[in-house]
Amino acid sequence: MTERTSDEKTRKLHNVYASQSANETAEIYDGWADKYEEHMAGVGYSHPAMVAAMLCRYQETGSAPLLDAGAGTGIMAGILGAMGYTAIFGFDASPGMLRLAESRKIYEDLRMLRLGEPLDYETSQFAATVASGVFTQGHAPLCGLHELIRVTRPGGHIVFSIARNYLGSVFETFATKLEQEGKWNKMDATSQYDSTPMGKDKLMAQVFAFCVN
Ligand SMILES: C[S@@+](CC[C@H](N)C(=O)[O-])C[C@H]1O[C@@H](n2cnc3c(N)ncnc32)[C@H](O)[C@@H]1O
Repeated sequence: MTERTSDEKTRKLHNVYASQSANETAEIYDGWADKYEEHMAGVGYSHPAMVAAMLCRYQETGSAPLLDAGAGTGIMAGILGAMGYTAIFGFDASPGMLRLAESRKIYEDLRMLRLGEPLDYETSQFAATVASGVFTQGHAPLCGLHELIRVTRPGGHIVFSIARNYLGSVFETFATKLEQEGKWNKMDATSQYDSTPMGKDKLMAQVFAFCVN
């Protein structure tokens, strides 16, 4: 890997974390889509593997419908498909990222939707929902979890990474309120890990699993 490539991927990550609006975030990803997987592989991007490993503790493989929120180029579907999950639905705010996800031909259904807005799915449509690398600075707001709870079946699990400005008390306060309101129960959490261990910066994160009531 050249020094130039290394600088480019660090710059892309910094640009997207500094995004000031949902439109700006989607535009950055549209422009990044073709290089995204190469850049993320170069920094040892670990969220999809962490989220998939956690999902496997709670959701058996098979044809129950799963939702991949903020699917990006579809790295999660590649992993989950190989693990034996056969009905994966996905959405993302970036048409450029979705175009690449579509080309994998793994997703049952892909839509351009945005966390933080109403999601065009039935209530309780999914047996489980995952979101890898989406709930972080410059990306989806935590309130997007309300719609993920709505579209996930009671007894189903939502498994997602939390990073940067949400990590720690911001997410804990948000999650505890939802637990007190009877919306979900916390089942599991990883310890904090560096999601880009081969990158220049440490990007600490945690993966959580919640069961929907
Ligand atoms: C770091 S990438 C993760 C993509 C994929 N889940 C993965 O792990 O490779 C973040 C993705 O979240 C999407 N995204 C950011 N904000 C979003 C929002 N509010 N609603 C839906 N997708 C969003 C971006 O377009 C991008 O594809």
